[in-house]
Amino acid sequence: MERKIAIIGGGNLGSAIAEGLLKSKFSKASEIIITKRNVATLKHLKEKGIEVTDDNNAAVKKSSVIILAVKPFQVSDVLNGIRKDIRANTILISVVTGVLMKDIEEIIKKKTALFRAMPNTAIAIQQSMTCVCSSNSSKNEIDYVDNLFEQLGKVVTIDEKLMDAATVLGACGTAYAMRYIRANIQGGIEIGFDAVTASLIAAQTVKGAAELLLQKGTHPEQEIDKVTTPKGCTIAGLNEMEHQGFSSSMIRGIVASYKKIGS
Ligand SMILES: NC(=O)c1ccc[n+]([C@@H]2O[C@H](COP(=O)([O-])OP(=O)(O)OC[C@H]3O[C@@H](n4cnc5c(N)ncnc54)[C@H](OP(=O)(O)O)[C@@H]3O)[C@@H](O)[C@H]2O)c1
Repeated sequence: MERKIAIIGGGNLGSAIAEGLLKSKFSKASEIIITKRNVATLKHLKEKGIEVTDDNNAAVKKSSVIILAVKPFQVSDVLNGIRKDIRANTILISVVTGVLMKDIEEIIKKKTALFRAMPNTAIAIQQSMTCVCSSNSSKNEIDYVDNLFEQLGKVVTIDEKLMDAATVLGACGTAYAMRYIRANIQGGIEIGFDAVTASLIAAQTVKGAAELLLQKGTHPEQEIDKVTTPKGCTIAGLNEMEHQGFSSSMIRGIVASYKKIGS
């Protein structure tokens, strides 16, 4: 892909996107510019040949794709600063949580292909789940942005009204999964494993379980049926977890996060 990409806001997410695009060969180093005010922390990207600068305007002028990855409270200032350099054919992708496309359009005061994307922290290892919505975009532009995020994991197109729900299930979901794995580790230590071995068994088992669903397209209950022998230990453990409110607490937690995000 020969489009030049400016990543405005080279923090955790912005840097991870730059590294993923490079690693996947979606972009050459010379096709990526990344900005932040304190560029010292981007030395590792500069060493890979990516242009690093504190000049947002210069970056936007040279690029046809802009990925906005600053904190929500910085969006207004940053967009006002680059507004005049955004052209009609610029693809503008915001990964900022909670800022609507209409708010962005109001600030930039022009129509351009506009996208919102909600990735998660696994983007750092190109295993993100990224939910994307768009406005004012052609099929080519939508295909381009889908392809970009497909280099960094899986992509699903959603309505913007589902972006908060996507944040909870996809981005907060990483934390929920971590807590589930941590509980497995704690249980594993109690039944005899050292912490390192318990961590490996718990993480790889969860990864394998997720891969079964992703690769075979099965429902979790179908896979559970294969593990549960009548009168066996798996069903005894599962039923005890349910008596203690396992599924209910997960669902309530997800709904609590969702209520919080909308408040
Ligand atoms: N982390 C995630 O998993 C995740 C997932 C989904 C969405 N998001 C969203 O992505 C955005 C970035 O998150 P993050 O975790 O990467 O935050 P972060 O690490 O704080 O990154 C934001 C970066 O923006 C830079 N910045 C601030 N003002 C700037 C300016 N005027 N011009 C250029 N750069 C500027 C900051 O560096 P300087 O201070 O040096 O300028 C900082 O490195 C947030 O809106 C967040 O809601 C994050």
